[in-house]
Order: sequence, then C-alpha cells, then structure tokens
Amino acid sequence: MARLLITGGAGFIGSHTCLVLLEAGHELVVLDNYANSSPEALRRVVELAGPGAEGRLQVIEGDIRRSADLERAFAEGASTEAELDAVIHFAGLKAVGESVAQPLRYWDVNVSGSQHLLAAMAAHGCRTLVFSSSATLYGYPETVPIPESAPIQPINPYGYTKAAVEQMLRDVAASEPGWRIASLRYFNPVGAHPSGRIGEDPNGVPNNLFPFISQVAVGRREQVQVFGGDWPTRDGSGVRDYIHVMDLAEGHLAALKALLSGGDQLLQLNLGSGQGHSVLEVIAAFAQACGRTIPYEVVARRPGDAATTVADATAAAKTLGWRTQRDLASICRDGWCWQSNNPQGYPKLS
Ligand SMILES: NC(=O)c1ccc[n+]([C@@H]2O[C@H](COP(=O)([O-])OP(=O)(O)OC[C@H]3O[C@@H](n4cnc5c(N)ncnc54)[C@H](O)[C@@H]3O)[C@@H](O)[C@H]2O)c1
Repeated sequence: MARLLITGGAGFIGSHTCLVLLEAGHELVVLDNYANSSPEALRRVVELAGPGAEGRLQVIEGDIRRSADLERAFAEGASTEAELDAVIHFAGLKAVGESVAQPLRYWDVNVSGSQHLLAAMAAHGCRTLVFSSSATLYGYPETVPIPESAPIQPINPYGYTKAAVEQMLRDVAASEPGWRIASLRYFNPVGAHPSGRIGEDPNGVPNNLFPFISQVAVGRREQVQVFGGDWPTRDGSGVRDYIHVMDLAEGHLAALKALLSGGDQLLQLNLGSGQGHSVLEVIAAFAQACGRTIPYEVVARRPGDAATTVADATAAAKTLGWRTQRDLASICRDGWCWQSNNPQGYPKLS
C-alpha cells in the first residue's frame, strides 16, 4: 500500500485511475480545482471502489499553482511516520485550440503548475512522480508506429507545454539522486468504466472525436464532422491510436509499481494500443455499439492534423509488463454505457 497524491484526480483519466488505485489498496489524496471536472466524479469513484474506500480517499479543492494548497495536500497525505510515497500528476489544461488562443494560461497551469508541484515534492523529500504527457509531442510524426526516440517537435502551445515539462523533469532527475520519474505519453484516451458511472464529460463543444460521436449518438449534437476524406489512409479519414481509459488507468498502476520497486529512474513511455483505427471505422463501431445511425459529413482537413498517429507500444510492454487489453468494440460499448446513462454528463451542482 502506498500513499499517493493525485493532482487532477477528478478529471477524465484521473477519476478512472483513482478507481484502479483504490482497488489496488492504495491511499489517495486528490488535489483538484474542478476547472474541468465535477466533485461528483470522485463520489462515484468511491461508490464503485466499494466498502472501506471512503476512508482511503481524501479530496482537497485547490490549485497546483498555489503553494498553500500543495502544502495542505502534502500534510494530508503524510502519515505520522512518513511523507507521501509518490505523486501522479494529471492536473492541466488539454485543449489544443484553446492553447492557441490562450497560450499564457497553458504555460501558467501546465508548466508553472508543474514547477510548483516539483518544488513542493523536493521540499517534502517525495521524489517519485508519474506525469501525464502526450503523443502530441511528436507533432507530424516521421515514422509510424512512433517510437519514443522520435523527435520531439510539437506544433501547438499545448504540445510545447508538455515538451517543456518533460524537459523540466529530465533536468530535475539529473540534478540530484533519488528521483524516480515516468513521463507517460498518452495516445487517444477514450471509453469509460464499464459500469457507465464515470466517463468523459467535456465542457462545451468536445475537442475530440470520441465524445463528439457519443454526443451525436445521444442526440445532443446533429452530426459528426470528419476532417478530411483525402488522407493517405485505407479509407481517406485520419487514423489514430485509441486507448481504453481503463487500460490507461492500469498503465499508471504498472508505472507506479515499476517506479516504487526500483532505484533512480527516468522513464519516457508511449501508452497506446499500437493499433490504428480510422475516423470512419470509429463511427461505424460506435453505431454498432449503440444501435443507432451516426450522421456524419466529410469536410476539409483541419490545420495541425496528421494522417496517421499510432504508438509503437513495445517499450511500455517491455519496461512495465503492461499492454492494452480492450478493443474498439469494448471502447464503444463502455463509452455508450456512460453517455446513455448520463446524457448531459455529471449532474451540474448549483
Ligand atoms: N484526454 C486526452 O486526450 C489526453 C491526451 C494526452 C494527455 N492528456 C493529459 O492527461 C491529463 C489528464 O487529462 P484528462 O483528459 O483527464 O483531462 P481533464 O480536464 O478531464 O482532467 C484534468 C483535471 O485537472 C484539473 N485541473 C486543471 N487545472 C488545475 C489546477 N490549476 N489545479 C488543480 N487541478 C487542476 C481539472 O479540474 C481536471 O479535473 C492532462 O494533463 C492532459 O494534458 C490527456
């Protein structure tokens, strides 16, 4: 059993990971300012984790950029004998378009927020960290499947902030012994817990394909726009590596185990399935799962998109003994279970 701080634990990936960590017996302190999430997510996580889980999840409403909030979180997580064992750092902003319009906000939350967190970790002698990085680091990939050794060449402010934090982590790891750090480069996290109790609940118009499709399926939006039908792919639509959020959550557990059981480490690993699916294939699979037609329209390509982005997932398999277990049909089934049971997302609290 480890004592863990989870920043951004109320969010989409954080909430699913909290559930997997509670089920594995860990004690958690979540620090989240609910900038893009609802407290209801963590209530449901506790309910899903079952008897006894409530006492192992403390929630602090606060901001990673505020030292006082970080101090509260570290104090809450410490036992009488020891400090927190590790941090999993999800908190951040993630919308590419928004990052182009509001770059300073992205540098502030993602980069400055991570810097504050690392300073608090160093001050408390907690040097084990799992960081949410992103495949967006690779920009337009030159090699597909993309290995971790591919050049880091982001093409938008969001990607630059993730690259900057990864660099900060390399600098920190090199500065003194004792750091154990994993930067996990997620591909396209989608789906939901199979119960349909927790899932992705984006504010406003979804930025990503999968929540868009599910909102069309449930009647919240009219049709899906497919950006580009002339890509050099098998059906002309873009190909991505979709990873079930429960597989991703289990990837965090595997990374944590690897860090806690070894000496100094600096891991930079892709978390993806290694399989590519086209936009049209995802639409067809979702239609099959929900038994409804998903209207779509093929429109012009979007600037900044690549034809195909698929992970080389072999390093994570070798280093962590982890690989994805769930296929596109399960992603769509579980995603639909969440969306159909929660058509408007989590209840909005007044
Ligand atoms: N979902 C994806 O497609 C994807 C892909 C690659 C990487 N990531 C990264 O994974 C992480 C989690 O993503 P997600 O999809 O769960 O996003 P999310 O928005 O659902 O979760 C992020 C959480 O962080 C919280 N947060 C934001 N700013 C904060 C702050 N200043 N202080 C405290 N909490 C704050 C939000 O309220 C939210 O609960 C992010 O860092 C994101 O960049 C996500």
